[in-house]
Amino acid sequence: MNTKTKYLGLELNSPIVVGSCGLTADVEKMVQMEAAGAGAVVVKSVFEEQIIHDIKRNTHMVAPTENYGDSYEYIAQHVADDSLEKHFSMIREAKRRLTIPVIGSINCFSYENWLTYAKKFQDTGCDALELNMAILPYETSTSADDVERTFTQIINTLRKSINIPISIKVGPYFTDMAKQMQQLSWMGIQGVTMFNKSVQVDIDIENETLKNASFLSTHEEMYNTLRWVALLCRKMRCDISASTGVYTADDVVKMLLGGATTVQVVSCLYKNGIDTLRELNSGLQAWMEKKGYDNIDKFRGKLAVAPAEKASIAMRTQFMKYFAEIV
Ligand SMILES: Cc1cc2nc3c(=O)[nH]c(=O)nc-3n(C[C@H](O)[C@H](O)[C@H](O)COP(=O)(O)O)c2cc1C
Repeated sequence: MNTKTKYLGLELNSPIVVGSCGLTADVEKMVQMEAAGAGAVVVKSVFEEQIIHDIKRNTHMVAPTENYGDSYEYIAQHVADDSLEKHFSMIREAKRRLTIPVIGSINCFSYENWLTYAKKFQDTGCDALELNMAILPYETSTSADDVERTFTQIINTLRKSINIPISIKVGPYFTDMAKQMQQLSWMGIQGVTMFNKSVQVDIDIENETLKNASFLSTHEEMYNTLRWVALLCRKMRCDISASTGVYTADDVVKMLLGGATTVQVVSCLYKNGIDTLRELNSGLQAWMEKKGYDNIDKFRGKLAVAPAEKASIAMRTQFMKYFAEIV
């Protein structure tokens, strides 16, 4: 049974990709993922915020206000280079030890560093770069146009400056999701990962403090991704990697039927272990065999919504008796 897939122009043996997370910061674990049948791995993101944190922690003795002349700048640069180098040497080792594609991932807040880091990633030899661009517009002064401009500016610059394939990982909240995703896909990028999941907030009612909610997705969360994959796949000019809430081989099949090129898993591996990749792959193959599909292209996108279709279940949002069969 052939599960080969072309994703971001790269040849994958399986459409099941391990998404960026703590597990993909460890080369030994990535070797296990390959052995268990991962099609590719997206390495843990480098966060500009984390580099700034390292700089602050390591330069507390040499604050810029203490009039140390150029030494602060020098030390800050050294700390930043050191933090990045640790990450890049991990990617280089992953490239030496793995045969599957290794995809880098970055998240920055300054325009300059998107460019600087992306070039450095390319130099590590990683096969592609996922831009982790989920933006939470929490300032009342931030408009949809501001968010859109940020995407456009960064993507246009990176596309001209690096030549490895680029995918964009976006969050699930846009007032004009369809328009935004289509426009992104027209910008010369090779893929969109739908969707990133932000760290959720919770409240400790005993101590009356804010805290993080569970980091892991629930299975129910996959349906939002499935809806948008099915709605948009025929309207976009790049690959879609479906992410969030994928736990079973059936989920993988559903995302592919909806039109995804690849399916990313993270929470599933945290909860059930890296070896679950074997079950996902064998379940996909068993389903293909049962249905008589000898390769993925025979059924990928079979249930994607046609561009002119006006009455798909994927478009319904309200619990109306006659349409949703709910009383
Ligand atoms: C512990 C943990 C760490 C993560 N770190 C990153 C990261 O560094 N970069 C990123 O783009 N996404 C990160 N994610 C988000 C995942 O890549 C993924 O988009 C999200 O968990 C939804 O997929 P899932 O439902 O399969 O977990 C992380 C998720 C978890 C649970």
